[in-house]
Amino acid sequence: MAFKVLISDPLSEDGIFPLRQAEGFEIVIDTDLTPDQLKDRIKGFDALLVRSQTTVTKELLDSADQLKIIGRAGVGVDNIDLDAATEKGIIVVNAPDGNTNSAAEHTVAMMMAMARKIPQAFNSLKNNKWDRKSFLGVELKDKTLGIIGLGRIGAEVARRAKGQRMNVIAYDPFLTEEIAKKLGIEIGTVDEVLAAADFITVHTPLLKETRRMINKEAFEKMKDGVQIINCARGGIIDEDALYDAIVAGKVAGAALDVFEEEPFLDHKLLTLPEVIATPHLGASTIEAQESVAVDVSRDVVNFLTIGSVRNP
Ligand code: NAD
Ligand code: MLT
Repeated sequence: MAFKVLISDPLSEDGIFPLRQAEGFEIVIDTDLTPDQLKDRIKGFDALLVRSQTTVTKELLDSADQLKIIGRAGVGVDNIDLDAATEKGIIVVNAPDGNTNSAAEHTVAMMMAMARKIPQAFNSLKNNKWDRKSFLGVELKDKTLGIIGLGRIGAEVARRAKGQRMNVIAYDPFLTEEIAKKLGIEIGTVDEVLAAADFITVHTPLLKETRRMINKEAFEKMKDGVQIINCARGGIIDEDALYDAIVAGKVAGAALDVFEEEPFLDHKLLTLPEVIATPHLGASTIEAQESVAVDVSRDVVNFLTIGSVRNP
């Protein structure tokens, strides 16, 4: 019996080799579908593989007549209606480790680029200006990095920040003294992290509890001149409150990879010189894309052939 797999977001071709190699699998790659087209296309497919562009809604799942498994080639499953999938008995798998390093490296790259105003200086140079006055930066050494959410990526960011000789303070409900000691970091409450940090980076999932957790009240608790990084999920930081805090001079810089609405275009935050941004590129490396695609492809093959998502 052939299994049909639909890939509706661009995935690494090298990463989907477990599907290509598996016997009896038909793979269809169709990455330019509108939500309505996808609702028709999904019929007859056993598996759907997505990254973050495809939103898997209840309506989409209602039109899927054969779907058994959804593979999310990445960490966040906030683009999938998990309740609707569960109700329909459709299993959802993600790739929790494959892009950890890439996301951590991107976070540190954004922090360094922001601290030294590299994108702004490059823009100025491209406009034929030799301006050595406008781009005075700050060092990271001896500054305090506040990390909210010390899971896989948060911990990797902490390790790298220690390499930059920063002090690190973190809040995570599951952070223990033992882990903190191993990483050489301090544990704080959210308020302690907000008050102590020169740079703040968030690495939580987007949940009810984390939505807009960095809001007007949170900005008020921060040091003047604090710099903020979000390479986790749009919506953890309240974008209007961030705009106001930058305009008021409270926040000196923001480095953003993720946004409440994506694509993030023509937004007032992008008009501010203090803001640098990338279009959700945290996991966009050859290594991470291959790794997450391999992980979910294996899970799909295993689930459809032996009924288990892990290798036996
Ligand atoms: P993870 O599950 O390993 O870590 C998340 C951590 O957040 C956990 O330790 C959890 O205890 C903690 N947490 C949950 N609620 C919290 C709260 N209210 N306050 C503080 N901490 C809380 O996940 P991860 O792999 O480290 O990913 C972190 C985030 O990065 C996710 O949102 C993920 O979707 C995102 N991500 C983004 C990119 C990108 O391309 N920009 C790439 C990979 C992951
Ligand atoms: C993730 O949650 O893994 C990220 O959003 C990366 C991505 O798939 O782009």
